[in-house]
Amino acid sequence: MPSPSHPTDGPFARRRLPLLGWILCAFSATVSAEPVTVARVESPGKVLRVSLQLDGGTPSYRVDRFGETVVDSSKLGFQLRDGRLDRDLAVVGQQSRSVDETWEQPWGERRLTRNHFNEVVVQLAERGGAKRRIDVVFRVYDDGLGFRYHFPEQPGMREAIIDDELTEFAIAPTSTAWWIPAGEPIHYEYLYRRTPLDQVPLAHTPMTLRSRDGLHIAIHEAALVDYAGMWLRRTEGQHLRAQLSPSAEGWKVRRSLPFDTPWRTLQISDTAGGLVESSLILNLNEPNVLGDVSWVKPSKYLGVWWSMHLDEESWATGPRHAATTAKTKRVIDFAARHGFRGVLVEGWNPGWNGDWVGNGYAFDFTRPTADFDIEALSAYGAKKGVHLIGHHETGCAIEHYEDQLGAALDLYARLGVDSFKSGYVCDDGQVDRRNPAGGPLWREWHDGQFMARHHLKVVQEAAKRHIAVNPHEPIKDTGLRRTYPNWITREGARGMEYNAWGQPPNPPEHEVNLVFTRMLSGPLDYTPGILSLKGRGGQAIRSTLARQLALYVTLYSPIQMAADLPEHYEQHREAFRFIEDVAVDWDDTRVLNGEVGDYVTIVRKDRHSRDWFLGSITDEHGRVLPVSLGFLEPGVRYRAEIYRDGDGADFRSNPFAFVRETREVTSADAWVLNLAPGGGQAIRFTPL
Ligand code: NOJ
Repeated sequence: MPSPSHPTDGPFARRRLPLLGWILCAFSATVSAEPVTVARVESPGKVLRVSLQLDGGTPSYRVDRFGETVVDSSKLGFQLRDGRLDRDLAVVGQQSRSVDETWEQPWGERRLTRNHFNEVVVQLAERGGAKRRIDVVFRVYDDGLGFRYHFPEQPGMREAIIDDELTEFAIAPTSTAWWIPAGEPIHYEYLYRRTPLDQVPLAHTPMTLRSRDGLHIAIHEAALVDYAGMWLRRTEGQHLRAQLSPSAEGWKVRRSLPFDTPWRTLQISDTAGGLVESSLILNLNEPNVLGDVSWVKPSKYLGVWWSMHLDEESWATGPRHAATTAKTKRVIDFAARHGFRGVLVEGWNPGWNGDWVGNGYAFDFTRPTADFDIEALSAYGAKKGVHLIGHHETGCAIEHYEDQLGAALDLYARLGVDSFKSGYVCDDGQVDRRNPAGGPLWREWHDGQFMARHHLKVVQEAAKRHIAVNPHEPIKDTGLRRTYPNWITREGARGMEYNAWGQPPNPPEHEVNLVFTRMLSGPLDYTPGILSLKGRGGQAIRSTLARQLALYVTLYSPIQMAADLPEHYEQHREAFRFIEDVAVDWDDTRVLNGEVGDYVTIVRKDRHSRDWFLGSITDEHGRVLPVSLGFLEPGVRYRAEIYRDGDGADFRSNPFAFVRETREVTSADAWVLNLAPGGGQAIRFTPL
């Protein structure tokens, strides 16, 4: 196992001599006006170097890559209810370690993940006052780093009430940013903006940056447990500061000691694709705590869903009710005929008839509506190998939902409903929370500490019953699927539904942006496959037909919806074949090319066969993208089933121009992808 370099001169000599280190540090802090480097850690391949400094007792860190500064001196610390914890600190201990291990994902973008880092833990203590203590941990990889705070058990401090975090990110190279606003009503459901970094006001993470020299940086967090989500507020120039999502109680986070904060993460790569291939976020999460999770089933599903977004049917009962026994049977039949494991049914339970948005108190999660025979349907599905997928729309009445959660999940478990989608439809900052004093309801944010706790509670309760969870309007993904592999996917982006009724519908560059921003956090239930290319009232979807297929490969999720209506799939049999065939669980994933917001090509190797799948999408510009097929097994001949844009295809004027053709190829072949404006290409490679 390699170990980090241990300089023996200067302040680094203190590493093994904490007491002497403390004295030296105190000494240097008093005699020097300059920040003093008190710890330094390099990545295993010496690509990145992270330094922890103390400037008169105030901690800061900086990040260099091959000797060039990526993050300039950036402060660390907290605004606690009982005073700032970022001053007059000294090092009282320090430990280093190196890890190089490989672990297996039960499902995912790849089977094996290498976790190779050097770490330093630095213990800091206030020299005066309350003498509070805090540790900072840096874990440095070749493709990025994570750092977090640890509040150790200590005399005189039982809990931390955090009014805000003072963590900064002073990005050194002049950069362009792709970001969505934080603190706004519709959570993460915005189109990505592209601006100079010095024009970003307040943004969610992941936020992706590209420097003038082409360095790509993504700022995010990992393992958001019992804590508030981190927003990024620009303070000046390219300096960002963590701003924690608010809570109704005034403070942002309240925790008993000891505890760890989430990791603050920086993925750093020469290419945009390198960000996507990085496993940093998963690596920083704790291993699976659920044990055998073979009951979590990556698979494809259909739904009683799109017709309601088209406003052709309704969630509410009555003549337009979509979730009836007869209609659901027809979807189950279609699913069985075409090899889909799941059928999602929304509007199956009482509560949809009134104004449920932001008001979920009428929802009953323990019984179906009179026209939906859930017992008969689950038995009918079971005979055909099709599982109903449950649905819990909460309307943000969180405790009303939690009161029923156990019974609701017991019902699903009894019926063999082994996954469900949930929903939190209300404006951000308007999540209901009971006021313990009995007064007016408290209001919470979708990514505050209250909701971080709520989501984990649902995931844990579901896991007890071997049920997987797919929340919409969720808290952002921070890689907790590693620890809880039944947290199978989520929304948390402007999804396909905006193509039904959104103004504007999603422009082609949106899905490319998602790959390099939102997707860095984890799987997305985007719900692709609208082959009719039409939204509500015939609104045109900004996509070619072939592109809808490519989305199954480019936007990763271990459960993928075929979101369109069965009758539309009947009308597009040739294209539908790819949706039937495409895999969802992968041995390996590689990004062949890509630029943020412009285009991307991804190939993935099926976990359960020797097939590879390729997906490529572009923005509103057509592209000619040469790719090598070097990812295929050498010496093997493959049949390539190609689903591509036809001649003259254009998302504006000719979206249905489409060709399905087959060819024989080997890994030695060069390939050129021709993508129409707003187009895409999907390929299945099967060994002959
Ligand atoms: C919003 C979700 O994203 C959508 O998929 C769902 O149909 C509605 N909420 C109703 O729960």
